[in-house]
Order: sequence, then structure tokens, then C-alpha cells
Amino acid sequence: MISEKMNDLLNRQVQKEFYSAYLYLGFEAYFQHQNLDGFANFFRVQVQEERDHAMKIFNYITQAGGKVKLYQVDEPEDNFNSAEEIFEQTLKHEQEVTKSIYNLVDNALAEKDHGTNTFLQWFVTEQVEEEATVDKVLRKLQLIKNDPHALLMLDAELATRVYTAPAAETV
Ligand SMILES: [Fe+2]
Ligand SMILES: [Fe+2]
Repeated sequence: MISEKMNDLLNRQVQKEFYSAYLYLGFEAYFQHQNLDGFANFFRVQVQEERDHAMKIFNYITQAGGKVKLYQVDEPEDNFNSAEEIFEQTLKHEQEVTKSIYNLVDNALAEKDHGTNTFLQWFVTEQVEEEATVDKVLRKLQLIKNDPHALLMLDAELATRVYTAPAAETV
């Protein structure tokens, strides 16, 4: 059984994961408008992953004897004018999410809630992957600068990203 505090922190994390999905959906729309279908696909896959993150925590809350409370999801920021700015903002956002996950782990350890700590370790690993993936694309965009040919090559590369649904028992 999770504590009330842990329960609320997990509910807040569900909200953050849905916000991530919403933020990335906005990025997908931007790239669709730019006819950069590969970049749009990259964020379409990311939106699906974020929804999975939210649902994984949503399911855990009930499983661990807690109560789900759905908080309001804010309108996402939309002040960006280039692919590079979008990936800078994505990296910054994922770094914030990592901090939030670490805070959850700190709380689980402080409460000696080893069940929740073990559950959260999946997210700790996932955040390392998220930051690395985004950083890699950002570095390529920094190399590309304003070369449209190179940008289209990266767009073609990002078109190959495929969403893998998680195994049923893990969501
Ligand atoms: Fe996430
Ligand atoms: Fe991921």
C-alpha cells in the first residue's frame, strides 16, 4: 500500500506524462505543417510512448492500493520557430521529467517503499534513453544548421522510427 504522499506524487507524474504527450503532439503538428513527415513521425511515436508512461503509472497506483486523481493538463508551450528549437525544448523538458522521476525515487526510498522504488526503476532507465535519443537528434541539427539537403536526410532517417507497444503485463 502506498502512502498518501507517494500516491499524490504518482498522480502528479501521470499529469506530467500526459502533458509530455500534449507538448509532443504540438511538435508533431508543427512538423506536419512544415512537410517534414519524418520529424512528425518521430514525435508521433514519442506521443504514444508518453501515453504509455502515464498509463503505466495510472495502473500502478490502483495496483498499489492508491487512488487515481486526474489533474488538469495545461495547454502546451508553442513558442518555437525551428527544428533545432524544438529539440532544445524537448531535451530541456526530458531533463525536467528526469528530475521529477528522481524526486519520486528519493521519496520512495525515504519512506522505505521498496515496491514503488522497484517500479520506478523502469522509468529511471527510460529517462536515460529519452535524453540520449533527443540529444543525438539535437546534435545532428546543430551540425546541419541551415542546409536543407541535410535536413531532408535527417527527416528520412526519423521517418524510420517505429512505435513498439509495451507487453500487456507491463502497462
Ligand atoms: Fe515520459
Ligand atoms: Fe522512450
